[in-house]
Amino acid sequence: MFQRIRYRLLLSYLVVFASLLGIFAIAVRVAFTRSLTEQITDKLAAIGKGAAANVEFEKGRLTIESDFRPQDLIAYHQALQWFDTQGNLITQQGQTVLTLPLLPNNIVQVQTGKIPIQAVTVPIIGSDNGELVGYVRVSQSLEEFDETLQKLDWGLSGGIIITLVLSSIGGILLTRQAMQPIEESFERLKQFTADASHELRSPLMVIKINAELPLEYPEEIGPKDAEKFQAIASATNQMTRLTEDLLLLARTDKVPNQNRDTLNLTSILENLIQLYKPQAEAKQINLKFQLIANLQLIGDSVQLTRLFTNLIENALYYTPSKGVVEIKTSHVGSHLYVNVQDTGVGIAPEHIDKVFERFWRAEESRSYWSGGSGLGLAIAQTIAQNHGGLISVTSQLEIGSCFTARLPTS
Ligand SMILES: Nc1ncnc2c1ncn2[C@@H]1O[C@H](COP(=O)(O)OP(=O)(O)OP(=O)(O)O)[C@@H](O)[C@H]1O
Ligand SMILES: [Mg+2]
Repeated sequence: MFQRIRYRLLLSYLVVFASLLGIFAIAVRVAFTRSLTEQITDKLAAIGKGAAANVEFEKGRLTIESDFRPQDLIAYHQALQWFDTQGNLITQQGQTVLTLPLLPNNIVQVQTGKIPIQAVTVPIIGSDNGELVGYVRVSQSLEEFDETLQKLDWGLSGGIIITLVLSSIGGILLTRQAMQPIEESFERLKQFTADASHELRSPLMVIKINAELPLEYPEEIGPKDAEKFQAIASATNQMTRLTEDLLLLARTDKVPNQNRDTLNLTSILENLIQLYKPQAEAKQINLKFQLIANLQLIGDSVQLTRLFTNLIENALYYTPSKGVVEIKTSHVGSHLYVNVQDTGVGIAPEHIDKVFERFWRAEESRSYWSGGSGLGLAIAQTIAQNHGGLISVTSQLEIGSCFTARLPTS
């Protein structure tokens, strides 16, 4: 149980932490890409302005006196293109030229392809009259830019993975430390329950024996006193059962592995049906059964008897007279199913999850004192789980309930 809480705690911590890291990484990448792009654009624009200054405009013709050394352009993966006002290419230098037509309104152009290229267009203004005489387009391969981004991605994801690994190690240690006091106090509580119920057994036994003793000689005590002793005896019985139940719950939680013998589930059920037949007849309940012969099972026969006792007692108790209680077995795959079905008062849908809780009883059952403590189904469920099985329930108010115990055959 604590293991599961610990895992859930760790998992939610890691999910939160990973999402924070993810958001951080995305923000860093976006900011970095934007500033790198701006930097390239500024650099290309500066080169473009320089190139525009080298242009002479004479008699309606552009003459270009580039002082850019072509090997520099190649080394930086850059290129220059000169256009006239109509967008016709006049001349170009460098290799990473854009093949796209000139778009004077777009200062920045990006050409995707095997090698992505970014270009910046700068207008050329005539020095004498200040008129537009043409355009220079400077371009640069984005290969380096992509490489830088890739390096950034690797760095970020590597960093995130290392941080997550480290923080999950830290998280394991932290959750262990945080859960330890809770686990210890839970353990102490269970130990206390076990000890207290164990210690209560003998004084209760003494009270019971002493209360029952005078009842054997009713002539010595008056009828009034007999009644009182009777009340003491039955209340003591009640308390004895309660302490036994508490002891069993506290112990089964601690030692999940009980006696493991091969046993015959069918005969356990048959014995129980024989045992409860008189009670059913007294209440005019039709106790029916449909059992598969010789159902073999590995488990603890005392505990399994307890499990089905609790289910059958409930069915008989919560079914009014003239009702039907039916016990059925089936064998599907590697599981045995035992159905205890009744035509009783049923359980409200909003209560159906609560019936297996310790000390839970429906209001109606609580209103009249019946001697129940609300531990029966909790014990039955614990026993089923200790055997690797489960009890489930379907029920409809005023129509009836069906409790199904599923137990593995091995
Ligand atoms: N077959 C049933 N039909 C209707 N309600 C049921 C049935 N079985 C259990 N319940 C409801 O579930 C509650 C819990 O059952 P559980 O057996 O745990 O306690 P209990 O029978 O009240 O007391 P005890 O500890 O003596 O068994 C009951 O109080 C009752 O309200
Ligand atoms: Mg019960």
